[in-house]
Amino acid sequence: MAEVRFEHVRKKFGRDVVAVDDVDLTVEEGEFVVLVGPSGCGKTTLLRCLAGLEQLNGGRVWIGDRDVTSLPPRSRRIAMVFQSYAVFPHLKVGDNIAFGLRMQKEQDAEIKRRVAQAAEMLHIDHLLDRYSAQLSGGQRQRVAVARAIATKADVLLMDEPLSNLDALLRLEARAELKRLVQELGVTTIYVTHDQIEALSMGDRIAVMDGGRLVQVDSPLTVYDHPADIFVGSFIGNPPMNFVEATVEAGDGTPVVRLSGGSFPLPIDDIRPLAERELMLGIRAENIEVRKEPGEALIRASVVVLEPLGSHNLLTVKTGNDVLKVAARADLFPPRDSDVWLRIDPERIRWMDRQSREAIAS
Ligand SMILES: Nc1ncnc2c1ncn2[C@@H]1O[C@H](COP(=O)(O)OP(=O)(O)OP(=O)(O)O)[C@@H](O)[C@H]1O
Ligand SMILES: [Mg+2]
Repeated sequence: MAEVRFEHVRKKFGRDVVAVDDVDLTVEEGEFVVLVGPSGCGKTTLLRCLAGLEQLNGGRVWIGDRDVTSLPPRSRRIAMVFQSYAVFPHLKVGDNIAFGLRMQKEQDAEIKRRVAQAAEMLHIDHLLDRYSAQLSGGQRQRVAVARAIATKADVLLMDEPLSNLDALLRLEARAELKRLVQELGVTTIYVTHDQIEALSMGDRIAVMDGGRLVQVDSPLTVYDHPADIFVGSFIGNPPMNFVEATVEAGDGTPVVRLSGGSFPLPIDDIRPLAERELMLGIRAENIEVRKEPGEALIRASVVVLEPLGSHNLLTVKTGNDVLKVAARADLFPPRDSDVWLRIDPERIRWMDRQSREAIAS
C-alpha cells in the first residue's frame, strides 16, 4: 500500500470537454476515499488518470514517492475494478481471479492460495470451476472484485463495483467490502452514485462536480457542513433544504426572515450574515414539527405525507418555500392542514445566494 497524490491534474477530451479540472487530492496510505458526483463529472476519468489509462494534459500523479505520471499502467501496481467489469467469459471463475497474478508471474502455489482467499471473501468459492458466462451479473461483479483484491497492488480503484447487485445483496456486499478493504489495508478509491454507500463506507468523501473537486472531508462533515449548495443538495436523502432568507438585527435578538415567517436567531455577531442575500440550509431532521402554534415557530401547510416506518417525511409549504421535514412516526397531519415548524438555529448552514458557497459563521 502507498499514499496517492494528484497534483493539479487536468484531462481534456478534444477541445471542449474538460473532464478533470485541476484536481489536487492526497489519499493517505491505507485510506478509503469515496468519490461521488453526478454522471459525467469526471470520476472514471480521474481513476483512469491514476491507473495510467489516460494521458494527462497537466499535473502529476504520485504513488508513494514514485512519480508515476509517465509510467505505463502495468508498472503502477494498481488494481482496478471497472464500471463495466471486464470478466473474461471464456475463462473459469478461478482463472479469471488468477489472471492478474499470472500476469505478475507468481508461483502456482501462491496463485492458488490467493485465489482461494479472495473467492472465499466474496462468497464465490463454490463457483471457481464455472465459466463466467454462466454467472449472474452480481456474481460476475464479485469475480471482478475478487480478481482485483487477489492481485498484489499498492492501490485499489473501484468504479461502481456493486451497481449490478440487488438491494439486499448490495447492503451485504457493502459491509463486506468495507471489512475486506480494512483487512487488506490497501489504499482505495471507490466510485459510487449511491450516497448511502458514500456516507457509510468512506474514511473521507470526495465530491466532484464538472471535473472539479468541490469538497473532501469526513462523511459527517460533508453531510453536516456542506461546502456549498451543490454538495448539500447532492449528499443526503432527502437533500438539504435551501430557502431564501435574510438576517436582521431586531431589537435584542437577531431575526431570521423567510418568505413564510420569521424567528429569532440567538447569535452574538450577525455581521457575517447581515445585509446579504442568504440561503438558509437545513436538513429535514433538524426541523421539528408541532401541531400547535407557539413562540419562534413558523406556520406551514402540509402538501404530502410519506410514512417511512422510522419517521414520516412531510413536504410542507411556508410562504413561497417548500421544505422536506422529518416528523415523528406517530404524527399524521392531514393534507392542507397547518403545522408549526421549529428550525433549529444551531443546525442552520448559511450559504451566499450569489456564490452559492458556505459562509463561515
Ligand atoms: N474517451 C472520451 N472521449 C471524449 N469524451 C469523454 C471520454 N471519456 C469521457 N468523456 C467525457 O468526459 C466527461 C467525464 O466522463 P467520466 O466518464 O469521467 O464521468 P463519470 O463521472 O465517471 O460519469 P458516470 O457516473 O456516468 O460514470 C464526460 O463529459 C464524458 O462525456
Ligand atoms: Mg464513470
